[in-house]
Order: sequence, then structure tokens, then C-alpha cells
Amino acid sequence: MSTMVSPRAGTSTDLASQATAVDHGGKTLHLTLEVWRQKNREAEGKFVEYDAPNISTDMSFLEMLDVVNEALAMKGEDPIAFDHDCREGICGSCGVVINGAAHGPRQRTTACQLHMRSFKDGDTLKIEPWRAAAFPVVRDLMVDRSAFDRIIASGGYVSVRTGNAPDGNAIPIAKDNADLAMDAAACIGCGACVAACPNASAMLFTSAKVAHLNLLPQGKPERSRRVVNMVEKQDHEGFGSCSNHAECEAACPKGISILNISRLNRDYIKASLFGTKKP
Ligand code: SF4
Ligand code: FES
Repeated sequence: MSTMVSPRAGTSTDLASQATAVDHGGKTLHLTLEVWRQKNREAEGKFVEYDAPNISTDMSFLEMLDVVNEALAMKGEDPIAFDHDCREGICGSCGVVINGAAHGPRQRTTACQLHMRSFKDGDTLKIEPWRAAAFPVVRDLMVDRSAFDRIIASGGYVSVRTGNAPDGNAIPIAKDNADLAMDAAACIGCGACVAACPNASAMLFTSAKVAHLNLLPQGKPERSRRVVNMVEKQDHEGFGSCSNHAECEAACPKGISILNISRLNRDYIKASLFGTKKP
């Protein structure tokens, strides 16, 4: 069995003579890909169509893109740029919109953990980058998500004494709070919540980052300052306001709850009412 990527008649991409042979058992799919190609931030982008036959259902979505890129490279064409690192659903690097859904059709699944068996033979997959003003396209499917880093940095540090590792039970933490903080800490910063939101809001991300510190005793001293600074930073970075569509929660591969947004709003109102000094 072989895997190759070849052009559709009438498309600008002719990969038929550059087929890449890969042995795999199991079922294969014949797909059409419509991929967003954009050389850089300033360039105008467009969708380019590729024919992708013999795609193993056992491949991950990123492995499928690897196969397409291998054929493009053999042809001497630029491979499709996309972000990836762990390929295990934990780093948050990957992320593309597939047929209008951030990370694709499976719930609680990152693009790297999405397998091609989620698609049907003959499907057309429209693949594009996150669309948000605060996430400018770097190239093709890659976007600049450094705005998230700046939101996290604006939250500052927690005031804890360093030194020897403290005893695990030295600071009692209510089980409910520990669980909620742990759930919020599952956010991998992928940005799907922003891509899914009609207003490109980063509230789910920011609220998760605020919650996992504010819910714990170690995070309480800076609680007010943290929430005000992070909310102001996200606004400054150009993310939209939350409009209660809840698309973010539906798209989040880590199941971050929008209850975190309610908690953030409460914290923010309290901090604004009772005053907080910025560092
Ligand atoms: S809240 Fe969910 S969708 Fe948003 S960045 Fe975190 S993990 Fe990704
Ligand atoms: S590559 Fe790390 S989460 Fe997908």
C-alpha cells in the first residue's frame, strides 16, 4: 500500500510525479485538502487545493500534514507551515481550524491527537489558522500567540518563600478548591477558545490562568492585583469581550469550564471596587 499526495486536475499544485511511498496496513482515505497558504504576516493568503489519496486512518492529523509536506518538499515546493511540539496534547502548540471547528470535529481533542479515522473517504477538509486580530498569522497555519505569554506575565508572581520543599500538608487546602485549581491548570494555552469565539475573546484562557492561582492560599496575597492586571492586559492585546456564546468551552480540548469566567468577573469587580495597587 502506498501513500501519496497528488494534485486535483486544474489546481496549481502538481504532486503526482512526487508521490511518497509509505507502507501501512489498515484502511485508507482519499481526501481533498483546502489549505490556507500565506507567506508571511503582510502577504495576502489564499486557499490552495491538494489531492491526498491513501491517507491511513491510523495517522494523526499532523502526520497526515507531514505526508503532504514530504510530497511538497520532493516537488521543491514550500511545505505547509504548522505549529507542533509534543504531539501528545499537552504543550498547546498545535491548533488549526478544520472545517470550521477549532482542533477539528472531536471534542476535547487537540489537532495532534485527532486521528484520520475521524474523517470519511472522499471528505474535503478546509484547514486554516486561528482567526483573531490578536493572533496574527506568521505563515500558513502558524499564528503568533505571544499575546498569551504577555497576559500570563502581567499576572506577576506568587509571594512564597523559597527554600526547602515544604511539607505537602503544611498549608491546608480545601479539596473542592484544590480540584477546581487543578482543573483550571489543565489549560495548555492553545488558543482554541479565542478561535472559536465570535468575538475572539481570551476570557476562558485568562480566567483559567487566574483561577489556578487565585483559588489556592499561595495565590491569595496578589489575587486582586493579578486579576486586574491580566484582564487589562488581555484587553490591551486586542482580544474581544466575552459575549456568553460558550463556544470557547465547547472548543476547549481540556474541558476548561466557563464557570472560571464567572469567577474571574466576580474577582475583577471586587478588586475594582475595593481598589488594588498595581506593582
Ligand atoms: S482555555 Fe482551553 S481552549 Fe483556551 S487556551 Fe486553554 S486549553 Fe486552549
Ligand atoms: S503538539 Fe503539543 S498539544 Fe498538539
